[in-house]
Amino acid sequence: MTNAQPIDPSTASRPPGPRGLPFLGVGPQMAPERSLQSMKAWREEYGDVFRLNLPGRDMVVFCHPDHMEQILVKQRDRFIKGKAYDGVRQLVGDSVLTLEGDAHKARRRMEQPAFHKRSLKLLVDTMVDATARWFDRLRERMPEGGELEIHREMTHVTLEIVVECLFGRGFFERTTVSYEQLTQALELLSNDANGVPIPRWVPTPRNLRFHRVLKALNTDVYAVIAAAQEAVARGEDDGSLLQMLLRTRDADTGEALSVEAIRDEVITLFIAGHETTALTMTWFFDLVTEEPEVIEALRAEVDGQLGDRVPDYNDLNALALVRRVVDEVLRLRPPAPWIARDVAEPTVVGGHVVEPGDLVLPSFWLLHRHPDFWEDPERFDPDRFLPERVSARHRYAFLPFSTGTRICIGNMFSYVESAAIISELVRRCTWTRVGDARPAPYQIATLRPSEAMFMKIAWRA
Ligand code: HEM
Repeated sequence: MTNAQPIDPSTASRPPGPRGLPFLGVGPQMAPERSLQSMKAWREEYGDVFRLNLPGRDMVVFCHPDHMEQILVKQRDRFIKGKAYDGVRQLVGDSVLTLEGDAHKARRRMEQPAFHKRSLKLLVDTMVDATARWFDRLRERMPEGGELEIHREMTHVTLEIVVECLFGRGFFERTTVSYEQLTQALELLSNDANGVPIPRWVPTPRNLRFHRVLKALNTDVYAVIAAAQEAVARGEDDGSLLQMLLRTRDADTGEALSVEAIRDEVITLFIAGHETTALTMTWFFDLVTEEPEVIEALRAEVDGQLGDRVPDYNDLNALALVRRVVDEVLRLRPPAPWIARDVAEPTVVGGHVVEPGDLVLPSFWLLHRHPDFWEDPERFDPDRFLPERVSARHRYAFLPFSTGTRICIGNMFSYVESAAIISELVRRCTWTRVGDARPAPYQIATLRPSEAMFMKIAWRA
């Protein structure tokens, strides 16, 4: 156990919070279109910890950096993924995202090398190549420029990047795996998050569809793994994440990952790795389009540092303004606006008791606009991430990738990927928003735009 805080019943109380309606609790205020505003109002009324009663269980929301440290670092063994992740487990199985304790530690140790700088340097070439081809095709599709539905297009580009990084270059030309199957399964899962979940064994039309989608997906993924196993056996190395997972061995036992474990990891990386970055890019468009001088500065940095050169890992990492802009996008629009934990044993955080049965929700959305740590928090200002300002700030005030032992394994992957897309975008295009309406952020499992957003793009030369 890590730095446990003793429970002192004389000082620790249950967290305060709104009572809500009979039976429904605060359910109506937590609908996706209202939940962010509701949470902001509750934080103002009740402070940094508040309890929400919902049908089935209490949720306790935390948003102070000290509380993040308690939940995710110091008392992490008391906050487990538990039942909170049952829905995700049905899709991804037992992967680094869902395993707990020693099993998680062992799996993470096996998978981590695939995300080390040395591996990323190779993967960046694949990312840059996939991005360039995507822009080339776009230009063929609309040589005079035209209107793009941004979220859909960004989902396509990040999908292509993650698929080629996972399975090797040119994957779509040699497979039957369909993007539709995965997005359908994801959609079914996130819909469950918004209603009273019905157990999967109940043969509702939606459950039957879920099982059908999952079965088809598994068949495809196992076929892809079998082909990669044969390639590895022939001594081939395409630098893909899948082949790295096939080659990895446990440091203590020397064992390889089972085929089932590899399936679970592949699905996890696919899901965790593309929607989040697609959302980062979508919110980048929404926020940055309002800031023409930021776009000009980005272009000056990219043109100045890269010219016409194809960037490598070091080039992308050296784009300091691009990084600050991405950080500011992640602050204002964290693609994972909150994460969920079950409570393994009663404990105190921020002076309040949480107990087994509570669903603990560290809210990065509220953390990133906490008025004690962010001045004028709704203003877009990438200079908040200048090195001297970062070092003066609380270490846990900015956590788009979470922190502690379960920090996002793909955080550096995602930064270089965003830099690859942004640098290509500002080099090749200019753009303007179509219409005045801006999408609102909706908190579902991820932070999605409330409606489609169109940009009119033009080619620079
Ligand atoms: C902007 C992009 C991304 C954001 C905001 C993001 C955010 C997060 C967050 C908040 C977690 C912690 C979840 C929890 O503990 O409940 C997480 C975990 C994870 N992410 Fe990401 N992620 C991003 C991109 C990626 C990419 C590109 C990959 C892989 C290619 C990836 C793979 C994972 C995995 C495997 C975990 C589980 C790690 C563990 O529990 O040990 N993510 N991510």
